[in-house]
Amino acid sequence: MASDDDKSATIPLDRERCVTGIEGLDNILNGGIPRGNTILFTGSCGTGKTTLSLEFLVHGALAGENCLFISVTEASDKLMKNVIPYDFFDESLIKKGTLVFVDMTVIYERLGMTEMELSLEDVDAIVKAIGNLVDELKIKRLVLDSVTSVCYRLKTEEKIREFILKIGKTLSDRGCTSMLISEISPSADRYSLYGVEEAIADGIVLMGNLERRGDLLRTLQVVKMRGTNHSRAKYVLDLTPAGILLVPLLKGGSGGGTT
Ligand SMILES: Nc1ncnc2c1ncn2[C@@H]1O[C@H](COP(=O)(O)OP(=O)(O)OP(=O)(O)O)[C@@H](O)[C@H]1O
Ligand SMILES: [Mg+2]
Repeated sequence: MASDDDKSATIPLDRERCVTGIEGLDNILNGGIPRGNTILFTGSCGTGKTTLSLEFLVHGALAGENCLFISVTEASDKLMKNVIPYDFFDESLIKKGTLVFVDMTVIYERLGMTEMELSLEDVDAIVKAIGNLVDELKIKRLVLDSVTSVCYRLKTEEKIREFILKIGKTLSDRGCTSMLISEISPSADRYSLYGVEEAIADGIVLMGNLERRGDLLRTLQVVKMRGTNHSRAKYVLDLTPAGILLVPLLKGGSGGGTT
């Protein structure tokens, strides 16, 4: 942990930002995610991780940045349908190739990876394949949903460490800002299944559920973000057709506020 703090202390605070387009989140991060960072978005099921990451990509694509969603857990054609109801979504983004969906199973198949447990050599091949995709498509924003599902096939701490370090470096060398989606159980006392992912990522955003007066609220909290100052307060996250809304928990978003 001390090494994380040392590293962030040496990074200047004026790094170029990747504006997420999720207004509340950009405010929390003082202007957006420092460009090239690899962020772990972590939470239990149904907390809105996929929805948030899709909105991040759609805003990037609308701003003219090429965006890639790598789907490990769900078929990407099904996922694509999730963005269509949004007021701000424009179908031409997919047709033009600004917003691209790729299934991880296709990458595994192309690389001939049929064994359930992947080797260190496989880690190199996967990272290289993703790096090539990012180069070819000139990707500036990437989502991997979920990194936990890739880690299931890596199994050992050594391979997981190698994968996260290499993918982080490959993407940041290309100026690509990335969200790695991490799945944890609601009662987990850490931010990732294996505990390795959280130590290596440049940032951690924790998404959760909070029961208030019989209602289950979604919450978001930035735990760490190298390269910027940020609020560490808990926010209530609302999923609306206009996109995600974030309201500070203590300013009326608590379900027990003044309204
Ligand atoms: N625009 C929206 N308005 C209201 N509800 C929404 C909207 N978009 C998604 N939801 C709901 O939010 C829920 C969770 O969304 P999402 O799939 O993003 O969570 P998740 O954290 O990725 O879950 P999982 O861990 O299962 O992958 C879903 O049940 C979905 O019905
Ligand atoms: Mg999801």
